Amino acid sequence: FIGKSLAGRRVLITAGPTFEPIDPVRGITNLSSGKMGYALARAAREAGADVLLVSGPTALAAPYGVRRVDVQTAQQMYDAVMSQVAGQDVFIAVAAVADWRVANASSHKLKKDAGGAMPALVFEQNPDILASVAALANKPYCVGFAAESGNLLEFGRAKREKKGIPLLVGNIGPDTFGSDRNELVLFDQNGHAALPAAGKLDLARQLIREIASRLRA
Ligand code: C5P
Repeated sequence: FIGKSLAGRRVLITAGPTFEPIDPVRGITNLSSGKMGYALARAAREAGADVLLVSGPTALAAPYGVRRVDVQTAQQMYDAVMSQVAGQDVFIAVAAVADWRVANASSHKLKKDAGGAMPALVFEQNPDILASVAALANKPYCVGFAAESGNLLEFGRAKREKKGIPLLVGNIGPDTFGSDRNELVLFDQNGHAALPAAGKLDLARQLIREIASRLRA
């Protein structure tokens, strides 16, 4: 298995946005395309791993040889991850998980002429999937992502520590959502290192190599 740096390893990845319902036909989501997470799933599979992808709603097909579990809400993503995490060697949280869900989602379609008053949404916080996995006693090697709009070097270091994970990957630039290209900064216990701008699959392959070498260390 020359070149198969993750042969025999099990890798769990979250990708895409989540969708938090307001009523049966409406909801709150974000502009995550899933491209970075799917590229990582493909690269991990190429490296010989057994890959499980837990995905929010995206327009993408599962990469060849990758098992996919489809979810909509952050709670469903949390439940899917927690039920599958035992025995995983690596967990890569790429999904753009909604921080908040609507606590008073309606079971019927909200009507604009129902009494004239605007509906008031009440929010409650979603579980932090990555922090929850990182807090497990038998945890896989955990990798997080961060999309910050400024001060990435400062926020990246702080976020790695706050989440309690060995490796945090920062997205540089405001245009990463939906783009085929990206630019990354890796934060670990030794500091930070840049992966210069490239296609997401190219970056995914580099990141998988970085993860594999840290697993062996
Ligand atoms: O705290 P913040 O949302 O910026 O952290 C981003 C990282 O945490 C990403 O890896 C994302 O997938 C993960 N995350 C998560 N569950 C949440 C929020 C973020 O797994 N509820």
